[in-house]
Amino acid sequence: MKILAIETSCDETGLALIEGKGDQINVLANLVSSQIETHRPYGGVVPNLAKREHQKTLPLLWQQLQATCDMGQVPDLIAVTNGPGLAPCLWTGVNFAQELAKKLNKPLVSINHLKGHIYVALLEPQISNFEFRISKQALNSKSKKLNELKSQFPILSLIVSGGHTQLVYSKRLGHYEIIGETLDDAAGEAFDKVAKLIGLGYPGGPEISKLAIKGNPLRFNLPRPMLNSKNFDFSFSGLKTAVLYLVKGMTPEHNKPLKLTQKNKADLAASFEQTVVDVLVSKTIAAAKEYNPKTIILGGGVAANQNLRKTLKQHTDKLENIRMILPDPKLTTDNALMIALAAFAEIKLLKPLKNPADLKAEPNLRLDQK
Ligand code: KG4
Ligand code: ZN
Repeated sequence: MKILAIETSCDETGLALIEGKGDQINVLANLVSSQIETHRPYGGVVPNLAKREHQKTLPLLWQQLQATCDMGQVPDLIAVTNGPGLAPCLWTGVNFAQELAKKLNKPLVSINHLKGHIYVALLEPQISNFEFRISKQALNSKSKKLNELKSQFPILSLIVSGGHTQLVYSKRLGHYEIIGETLDDAAGEAFDKVAKLIGLGYPGGPEISKLAIKGNPLRFNLPRPMLNSKNFDFSFSGLKTAVLYLVKGMTPEHNKPLKLTQKNKADLAASFEQTVVDVLVSKTIAAAKEYNPKTIILGGGVAANQNLRKTLKQHTDKLENIRMILPDPKLTTDNALMIALAAFAEIKLLKPLKNPADLKAEPNLRLDQK
């Protein structure tokens, strides 16, 4: 069973091909084209520019995939991200998938993008040779077997990306209960906004984490939103505002604008990052204590953050009988391999569309939506 997957929900164009042989998954190709350079001058993703890039890049990736793999045997199934994400971007992938399904006369299934972030951690594919800009990845590498996957439930997933911050409890394969989520900004969004405030480049997450290594996380005392609330929800917009007031010198302790020297920026980056990490980790641990999962996984773009990885691991190691899985940092950014893996994992639960033309992009698709 070969699965071809397409991912275009935000600013990476992805095409991947995997082969499931019984329980074993072989990754045949994972092609990713990043649009970071296109959006950098604007300091954020511009949806219509992203759409144009996806339209331009998808046929190129398809050509490259055909050249890379022996496409004598066409895929048996096509899987495409239909949400959540930016509407014009999602539609580009959906339309491309519909045309391909028609041309190859193969069934089409839709996959929730966030499932991709979960299964790419759970199935632990071994990936090598990764570089951004249309890159070839991991020919014939293997991932965990499907029967091993089932024994890891129940699972608690912390998904942290540019668009989402959610704690998801999964009792069994195909079950998703959102037990907490952000009430305003996503964690990655907060990283991006704060980076902008202190004059760092885009995307802000990697810039802040690079600078934070050199800074003092105890220098600035920032609010830890919702830390003591009884539920598992998050809120990051107040934290962003607190950084803004601090920079402008509008707080009782800092009543003069903060000079954005290298040292001040590093201390601010470190203090901000530590605050976000503390909130994410403490909510995850509290949820783990209440839900008793067998496995905790971290997923989404912010999962590349070394401080978050280290702190979460330290705290989960103290919990008994819980295994923590940290995804390969090369696969935390959006890619199509994660979509292919989610499709393979849930293959028995998926219902191919009777008419591929009926598939719609769903920008606000939720994990707990039937
Ligand atoms: O999952 P993703 O690639 O796209 C969405 O689905 O949103 O996540 C992108 C987000 C961006 O906000 C980016 O700044 C953040 O992940 N990010 C990081 C790091 N690397 C990427 N945030 C914190 N630390 C990092 N090292
Ligand atoms: Zn994502």
